[in-house]
Amino acid sequence: MLSMSKKVLLSGIQPSGKPHIGNYFGAMKQFVDLQDKYESYIFIADYHALHSLRDPKKLHDNIIGVLLDYLAIGLNPEKVILYKQSDISEHTELTWIFDTIVTMPYLMRAHAFKDAKAKNKEIDVGTFNYPVLMAADILLYSPDIVPVGADQKQHVEIARDIAEKFNKTFGESFKLPEPVILKEVATVTGVDGRKMSKSHNNTIPLFAEYEEIKKCVMGIITDSDEGIPKNVFAIHKLFRDEAELNKIYKEKTGKYKELKEMLTEDLEKFIAPLREKRKKFERDIPRVLTILKEGGEKAKKVASKKMEEVRKKVGVQVY
Ligand code: TRP
Repeated sequence: MLSMSKKVLLSGIQPSGKPHIGNYFGAMKQFVDLQDKYESYIFIADYHALHSLRDPKKLHDNIIGVLLDYLAIGLNPEKVILYKQSDISEHTELTWIFDTIVTMPYLMRAHAFKDAKAKNKEIDVGTFNYPVLMAADILLYSPDIVPVGADQKQHVEIARDIAEKFNKTFGESFKLPEPVILKEVATVTGVDGRKMSKSHNNTIPLFAEYEEIKKCVMGIITDSDEGIPKNVFAIHKLFRDEAELNKIYKEKTGKYKELKEMLTEDLEKFIAPLREKRKKFERDIPRVLTILKEGGEKAKKVASKKMEEVRKKVGVQVY
């Protein structure tokens, strides 16, 4: 059960479709590793996703999909408060209040906005305001740490700035969160030797079926260094001790097919239990949805208490 003495961790996950092993080793796994140490709030950032995904069926399926993904890798709802952003109306409510103290020039310095502008995109207010919603996500729960990928560090710093500004304007209300940049256990190499990324189309899906794993592995570009296929090795070292692998790869110099078969089997050994666990949850969607709903009820208690304090502080509370 949750203990009061534990430090609080909070992070949000975008429901953006099928994860790959790069996502797993780069980010997802950490939440599982940290769930015993921290009182954890992990939520699905579905309102954030809405700014780029205007396909209701897809958003709906992605929300359930990401929930299944995280339950399958071992996020334990007994330990973690797992919920979705849109269930807690306080997130958007607090966003508005923050909107009234954050200036446009300040938000114009955010990377995401600058990138969109540089690409000459027509920028919707949601995209512009993205960091403010994220600040509300964070500050409602007074977390000590917010583990994020390097690309999100600025957003956590914006949340700190907003907290400071609010505190200065209306009196001490929000705790300043620390961004914790997830030590990328591995920057996972994709099948073409570049960083594994959906946009590079070089991924191995985390819940791939055996045949799919095989196909991905056989498709690895065997760029070799004196008979050692570097890209095969780079992926393989996530699943086996590196010293042991060095020995094996030396013995099998030039035997690319054999090494790939071995990697396929190692991947299957790692993926199969996760895949089966995901399927088990998938067969019981009502239970999975109950987990999400109950997580939301717990989160709501915390958020609504904070929001009450905020309403009082800004002066709209009259009853
Ligand atoms: N923007 C984050 C991402 O794209 C997701 C996110 C939304 C988040 N709200 C958050 C992360 C609050 C940490 C804290 O990955």
